Amino acid sequence: MQVGIDDLAIYVPKLYIDYKDFAQARGINPQKLEYGIGIKKMALVDTNQDSACMAANACLKLMQKNDLQPQNIGRMYVATESALDESKAMNSFVIGMLEEVYGEGSFEHAGGIECKFACVSGSYALYDNTNWIRAEENNNKAAVVIVSDIAKYDIGSAGEYTQGAGAVAMLITENPRLLAFDSKIASTIIKNEYDFYRPFGKETPLVNGNYSNLLYLIQVKKAFDSYKEKAIRTGLIRLRNGESITDHIDLFSVHLPYRKMGEKALAYLLRHEWRHLPRWQHIIKEIGMIEPVPKDPRGTIESILADKEFMESDEKFRRAFMQTSSYNEVFEQKMASSLEASSLIGNLYTASMYMGLRSLLEFEYKKGVELESKRIGFGSYGSGSSAMVFSGVIQPEYRGLVKNMNLEEEIGMRTKLSIEEYEEVHKNERNLNDCHLRGHKEFVLVKIGGSTADKAGFREYNYLN
Ligand code: COA
Repeated sequence: MQVGIDDLAIYVPKLYIDYKDFAQARGINPQKLEYGIGIKKMALVDTNQDSACMAANACLKLMQKNDLQPQNIGRMYVATESALDESKAMNSFVIGMLEEVYGEGSFEHAGGIECKFACVSGSYALYDNTNWIRAEENNNKAAVVIVSDIAKYDIGSAGEYTQGAGAVAMLITENPRLLAFDSKIASTIIKNEYDFYRPFGKETPLVNGNYSNLLYLIQVKKAFDSYKEKAIRTGLIRLRNGESITDHIDLFSVHLPYRKMGEKALAYLLRHEWRHLPRWQHIIKEIGMIEPVPKDPRGTIESILADKEFMESDEKFRRAFMQTSSYNEVFEQKMASSLEASSLIGNLYTASMYMGLRSLLEFEYKKGVELESKRIGFGSYGSGSSAMVFSGVIQPEYRGLVKNMNLEEEIGMRTKLSIEEYEEVHKNERNLNDCHLRGHKEFVLVKIGGSTADKAGFREYNYLN
């Protein structure tokens, strides 16, 4: 049985900050943001928006464009690290909003939970719901997986230029039109880490940026090793002499805290996969430098980061590798299209890789590439930490869906905030009703908390026509 993503819909808030304004305000060279990080616009939520209404807006779009009724949906999972309540799942807020449109009780038959594991939880949600359908527990109903997040970092921190906000809703069905997941190969890795975390009550995370970058690369590589073993063992991929498994993956979609991180993740993976193959000799010749090894190759991430000599020469090698024709050919053909949306929206935590998938499909199609039967390899990462590597194959009916994808049109007219306006929103200095944009044909937050103590934390939403 083929199960996978039948269709997807996105929601991106219409406020943004421009990288040039941001660079000027923080005294940063704008080229660092444009090329070093890969950001041009960072999407921001208005005072009358939160992660739940973004999730509901993405889900409503998905339902409307596919003529779905609540009766067609048996499960709804919401993956987020921007939770609104320690106990009440984001799903219940989302269901409440959708029932404003579809009628009270219209989702009563369905089920679902909120999932948390930093940016990777959406991938676990997809995997679990795919297997719910494979196990034929679904009673002919579809599952919806929504990933929705607000990436918010402290003002003045290095993370501040990797902010963003948005949601993606995905319809999971049997015989999907877009992408069928390969079975029995999804691979995970998990470890207790403090690379990025947000203790209770804190609105912004505590992050060890460089540590989190390296951990992401290492964890995805380890999950990829396990994926490779399964793909070969199950006969999904057959390697000939001198081949790498990356030769059999046509397109890549990876976790994208910022555009440049996707480029680096591909470089790390290719180095790992190619260094024992005959092609590596040509690459080393082109680079003109031997690949460095740490003083203690079996050391910890801390010991590798502390090995200054290695880190410096490895950075030099990595940059040179990213200039080689071998890297650039793979990058242009297999990854570049997935990074377009990231530059225009910013970090979306759980939704970042799936916005990347959306971007990959749209921009590869616009290049005129035939996508049918192409295998997409996914490298999902969540701090804390866990990685999941899996793959899927683009289905014949993809054209009917992808031909209508237009990111700029879908986001619509955007409003640029000045740095002063942005900081005011960031510091929660504006009242909920004092929003910049009122909203049109979407759910918005209208009230938090009731007049009595037993209504503390109540959130009320309205659909604006
Ligand atoms: N022109 C072009 N590029 C420039 C530049 C300029 N004038 N000045 C600096 N750069 C480049 C740097 O060379 C570097 O590129 P490289 O990665 O190819 O080496 C890049 O800009 C980033 O600069 P750097 O100083 O190394 O990092 P930073 O201190 O700005 O921090 C993060 C970057 C990502 C670590 C930080 O934004 C962060 O902590 N983000 C949140 C955590 C996160 O997203 N983690 C990801 C894993 S989940």
